[in-house]
Amino acid sequence: MRRAGTEEGTVMAEMNRISRFFVNTFSVRRNARIYGWLAKNIALPAEAECLEIGCGNGDMAARIVDGMHPARYVATDLDPKQLESAKRHLATRHPDGIPPALELRAADMLHLPFADASFDAVFAFVAVHHASPSHHDFTNVPHALAEIDRVLRPRGMLAYEEIAHKEGIRSWLIDRGYVLTGIELGWKREAVVATKAAGVGPELTGSRDRG
Ligand SMILES: C[S@@+](CC[C@H](N)C(=O)[O-])C[C@H]1O[C@@H](n2cnc3c(N)ncnc32)[C@H](O)[C@@H]1O
Repeated sequence: MRRAGTEEGTVMAEMNRISRFFVNTFSVRRNARIYGWLAKNIALPAEAECLEIGCGNGDMAARIVDGMHPARYVATDLDPKQLESAKRHLATRHPDGIPPALELRAADMLHLPFADASFDAVFAFVAVHHASPSHHDFTNVPHALAEIDRVLRPRGMLAYEEIAHKEGIRSWLIDRGYVLTGIELGWKREAVVATKAAGVGPELTGSRDRG
């Protein structure tokens, strides 16, 4: 990992070429397993609008769009190289064109460019711990979670997989009234579905449409 500045001046833990290769290559096998788990543990509402943060090569985005048919799925990543990789991956999977419901977009999980309460579901697969430049550092993780909370509608759902800060993330969500409706604890990874309470406003103040 190395630190890199973005146009907005955000400091991110950019993956080097080798990490990117391993994440994007081996995630495909893992994603078959995690998608199977998700399909048993979540049901998207009709006309669902979904956001994914740190989408990497877009493989989970493609699986969810193909299998769960949301009306809109915005797959985001901060790293332009990852978005390029996602474009290539999606073009291979969909040679006749990427499904219209699926958008690829650059976004920093610490400053999500979306209005408050604009998504029914947010997905994050091994992404939230990237909020801090060092994966062992929890400092920015609550900020990323607050951004996710802000863009989620009441009764919205966060589905994530994590390898770091697992207890800290669960505690943060429970303290804000989320109910953990699905959880798979692994030795290294855990997958969680957390449902936001009804009538809970976004944690950050003000309605900001940054789209
Ligand atoms: C370990 S990879 C996981 C990729 C994909 N979700 C998967 O499961 O294969 C973490 C991803 O988070 C992205 N990322 C890092 N910092 C970010 C930030 N501040 N905002 C959004 N995405 C970020 C990286 O570019 C990378 O694609």
